[in-house]
Amino acid sequence: MLKVQVIHGPNLNLLGLREPTIYGRQTLDSINQTLEAEAATLGVTLASFQSNSEGALVDCIQATFGEKDGILINPGAYTHTSVAIRDAIAAVGLPTVEVHLSNIHKREAFRHHSYIAAVAVGQICGFGADSYRLGLHALVQHLKTVQAVPPES
Ligand code: DQA
Repeated sequence: MLKVQVIHGPNLNLLGLREPTIYGRQTLDSINQTLEAEAATLGVTLASFQSNSEGALVDCIQATFGEKDGILINPGAYTHTSVAIRDAIAAVGLPTVEVHLSNIHKREAFRHHSYIAAVAVGQICGFGADSYRLGLHALVQHLKTVQAVPPES
């Protein structure tokens, strides 16, 4: 069974309360529950982790090495600042899908750049809590198809 690590960055523990016009009213627990249900239909095992601390997020990414098949991450504000999170993803080398509730490209200019995008398989943003579900599908599809294709000999 494929194993996916879900990672939520800073302030995402406040979902539901935090700027609901931008991020919606769904709580992080409810998003994790939806993802668990989706994972069951896809036949994958999920583990979820949230931290407000950059180092703890780096530790979580490092711990996926040899243990997980892919990473689904919303790095929150660290998207726009963290070379350390980007380097950790590059170091473990696992297929990673970056997700955001809001469409970061139509918000403030400082949110337009992602340090994570260049080391991710792809990015899904702008669909609210559904970005996570879509991201999980995209990651699992990638793991089951693209990843599974043997290299040409
Ligand atoms: C976010 C977008 C980031 O710019 C912001 O700092 C967040 C949440 C999103 O999911 O839309 O904390 O990652």
